[in-house]
Amino acid sequence: MSARRLLAALLALLACAASPAFAQKFDLAATPPMGWNSWNKFACNVNEQLIRETADALVSSGLRDAGYRYVNIDDCWQGERDAQGFIRADAQRFPSGMKALADYVHAQGLLFGLYSDAGWKTCGGRPGSRGHEFQDAQTYASWGVDYLKYDWCETGGLKAEGAYQTMAAALRQAGHPILFSLCEWGGSQPWTWAAPVGHSWRTTGDIFGCFDCVQNNGDWKAFGVLQILDMQDGLRKYAGPGHWNDPDMLEVGNGLTANQDRAHFSIWAMLAAPLIAGNDIRNMPAAVHAVLGNRAVIAIDQDAAGIQGLRHAAKDGVEYWFKPLAGGDWAFMALNRNASARHVSFDWAAAAVRDELSGRDADFARTRYAWRDLWQDRATGDTTRPLEADVPGQDVLLLRLTPRTGPAP
Ligand code: GLA
Repeated sequence: MSARRLLAALLALLACAASPAFAQKFDLAATPPMGWNSWNKFACNVNEQLIRETADALVSSGLRDAGYRYVNIDDCWQGERDAQGFIRADAQRFPSGMKALADYVHAQGLLFGLYSDAGWKTCGGRPGSRGHEFQDAQTYASWGVDYLKYDWCETGGLKAEGAYQTMAAALRQAGHPILFSLCEWGGSQPWTWAAPVGHSWRTTGDIFGCFDCVQNNGDWKAFGVLQILDMQDGLRKYAGPGHWNDPDMLEVGNGLTANQDRAHFSIWAMLAAPLIAGNDIRNMPAAVHAVLGNRAVIAIDQDAAGIQGLRHAAKDGVEYWFKPLAGGDWAFMALNRNASARHVSFDWAAAAVRDELSGRDADFARTRYAWRDLWQDRATGDTTRPLEADVPGQDVLLLRLTPRTGPAP
């Protein structure tokens, strides 16, 4: 090939790489996003005072330093569009405007998130972004928004992949790094197409504050913790650093029992799910703080390997889960789905735990692992003897296993 032809080919390649169709998403969410969102507790009842107080409480409670960085306003912050089509905040609820609120949140060492919708209207009936994607992305960037949750109401006739690609391209062009959280509820199987488009995608319809139930709302259903867990079957291979399955925001502190709160949080950690708290951080009982603030459990979720956990076995309503961790550790969860306590026996040496996805296996017959109980915060044993434990109803035993050098005795 002549030098001139080579140059032309190179230029064509460069032009291609720069065109929107090839736009790369921002390099964010190496571990699952963590933060808080207004919806699960406050629904449409949001205002700037709530957001400021929540930011303050994230700092004073230590949750910011435990990893909860994003402060996200869900639906209903929007007012009308102005004459040029620019979206404005609801002036009654946010009289100081979104830029001032984002500045306040940033000054607390936190990040700021907003919500919009791919359709003509949001689920709460506010203006959606359809037809205004590039304008909205520019507005968010000018306010200093760091996270966008993008919903799927009022989208009749739209195709999810294209609609989300449009907003991804708009965010990219606006130039401010914004984590893009897809909220399409799983209908178009976003796990099959969304990894290049966004940083997380909802896998299901909405969660609500119940451990084991379904709420029928007429034309849509909301799901309990266990129902959502069961809908994650088969999805683990799609998740990894920068692109996460999102089984919805946390209901910890929203009316579940202490056992259920623990189980819910542990399940989300084993799933490498985004940990977006959904309770009132300003008025948080100590027991709720102990769940959300458990750094050893958070470390399971935030593990650098970014491998979603796998269900190894299930018997009599008890499930045994493993999650390979960076550096050779494993997390282990025995989840008791039953309402009453169960005795759990697990013979490590007899269990061949092989993860085809990551190629990791835990060879308990050859390697001794010491374990730590992450809820009791105690080092309680190792894998040379079978595990024997009582797990209360709708609760978990959550362990971190660390290999010890030398052969098993
Ligand atoms: C949908 C989403 C929820 C919430 C509401 C807001 O139902 O799935 O998470 O954002 O809309 O109206």
